[in-house]
Amino acid sequence: MNLVLMGLPGAGKGTQAEKIVAKYDIPHISTGDMFRAAIKEETDLGLKAKSFMDKGELVPDEVTIGIVKERLSKDDCKKGFLLDGFPRTVPQAEALEQLLNDLEKGLDYVIHIEVDKSVLMERLTGRRICKDCGATYHLVFNPPAKEGVCDRCGGELYQRADDNAETVQNRLEVNMKQMQPLLDFYQEKGYLRNINGQQDIQVVFQEIEKLVGDLRA
Ligand code: AP5
Repeated sequence: MNLVLMGLPGAGKGTQAEKIVAKYDIPHISTGDMFRAAIKEETDLGLKAKSFMDKGELVPDEVTIGIVKERLSKDDCKKGFLLDGFPRTVPQAEALEQLLNDLEKGLDYVIHIEVDKSVLMERLTGRRICKDCGATYHLVFNPPAKEGVCDRCGGELYQRADDNAETVQNRLEVNMKQMQPLLDFYQEKGYLRNINGQQDIQVVFQEIEKLVGDLRA
């Protein structure tokens, strides 16, 4: 099961990725998470990525492609993978194609979670994440049982540094510019599947299950 999850910031990629990898036991490869881990560890990669992420810009292609290449070559990806937030530009998609060819792998589906941009600002500014286990909540749409505390592990919830209104606005603009050419790229190759992301979180997941369940049949 080799999958790509696409969608604008706040479309629900991370929320659905958590469910997909739990059910199908494949590694979750999120470039955003990898950059945030590098920032926390204060590595060279983290320092470089931070300057772009703080402004809501994309990290340069060569840096991003390099970390995905390294990650996809690891043994656990032999059983499949879920790419979340990569590729995000056509050059990244071309590099992924080349990389998968070299590894003698192919993609099954590129799942595009479609959400109207008018709801994304509210989704992102209301998002809260667990410091310990990374679970994602929303103050209104998916609140924890106890304010500020993770239901799953009891960890403290925090707001991501790039989820303030100003940075979100730029992230949306930057990503919208890149999105259509990327959708066209995958549509032409026959991998693209669109899922309506403006339904209940569980309903979105059921639609993804229906789609990827075929791969196991
Ligand atoms: P990244 O971490 O990938 O962020 P993003 O693409 O901006 O996406 P998000 O994680 O913000 O949103 P999501 O779609 O995962 O939504 P979520 O499920 O959390 O990237 C961060 C940065 O890293 C980029 O800006 C860039 O600088 C850099 N970067 C990363 N990859 C890169 C690449 N390939 N190239 C270059 N640079 C790269 O949901 C959002 C909220 O909505 C949550 O609160 C959730 O509870 C709620 N929600 C989810 N689904 C629903 C629903 N169905 N109904 C109601 N609420 C919902």
